[in-house]
Amino acid sequence: MNRLNGKVAIVTGASSGIGRATAKLFASEGAKVVVGARRKAELDSLVEEINAAGGEAVAAAGDVRSEEYHQALVATAVDRYGKLDIAFNNAGILGEAGPSTGVSEAGFAEALTINLTASFLAAKHQIGQMEKNGGGSVIFTSTFVGYSFAFPGVAAYAASKSGLIGLTQALAAEFGPKNVRVNAVLPGAVDTDMYREMNDTEGKQSFITNLHALKRVAAPDELARSVLYFASDDSSFVTGTASLVDGGASITRT
Ligand SMILES: NC(=O)c1ccc[n+]([C@@H]2O[C@H](COP(=O)([O-])OP(=O)(O)OC[C@H]3O[C@@H](n4cnc5c(N)ncnc54)[C@H](OP(=O)(O)O)[C@@H]3O)[C@@H](O)[C@H]2O)c1
Repeated sequence: MNRLNGKVAIVTGASSGIGRATAKLFASEGAKVVVGARRKAELDSLVEEINAAGGEAVAAAGDVRSEEYHQALVATAVDRYGKLDIAFNNAGILGEAGPSTGVSEAGFAEALTINLTASFLAAKHQIGQMEKNGGGSVIFTSTFVGYSFAFPGVAAYAASKSGLIGLTQALAAEFGPKNVRVNAVLPGAVDTDMYREMNDTEGKQSFITNLHALKRVAAPDELARSVLYFASDDSSFVTGTASLVDGGASITRT
């Protein structure tokens, strides 16, 4: 409790899955949270849940492809809560999947835009605000896919998400002197809408489960707790990392 007391956070991709669990955990740890995604009704119900539990949050719906949306999220944090300390840039899509020889330019570009460019635009506007406040913590959601694990048929996803690791390092080096830390979390499989959409049969789910040393996939809250580490002062000397939270998928060959 209270590991984020007095902090103000933005969480994108908060309408479901990892983002929703993280927004709730941040609020329960004392942060005031601006929650973003396109589905307004889901954001409103999240805010109600957080408020009912004694926390504080505000919804700002929009599309992360728009630079103005990122400016609006930062403005909401500052107007409503006075500052910005933490940003969890987590919104993402699988994008066009299937044999890479058939992937369209538009499908490939869409994954890059939502998973990579939007994360850059978010950080671009968040970091300036954090600097005014003596520093902050930016966290991106990458993935084990394209880092420690390769699957066929997800080239756009893998390329866009591994690009986030380079972005993390570049921003961490550039803004470390201003006390802005930047880290990427790399989940293994997590039981969310995206996971169920990709793995829509028992056979696929059991294949994916077996890739992990723990022989299960993660619950969204388990990712949220890892993100909390990067958001909080517990990780005050940690920046520029690509941190696997993958149930041992990277070391498993059975
Ligand atoms: N589940 C896994 O196994 C897994 C593993 C590794 C990494 N990840 C990553 O974890 C992150 C969260 O995914 P999840 O698993 O929690 O799946 P999810 O429940 O499908 O969440 C995806 C979130 O991204 C938001 N989003 C997507 N496109 C957006 C856009 N254009 N503008 C604004 N928001 C957008 C969605 O909100 P709206 O639809 O309301 O806009 C939703 O809140 C993603 O970046 C994903 O790549 C997931």
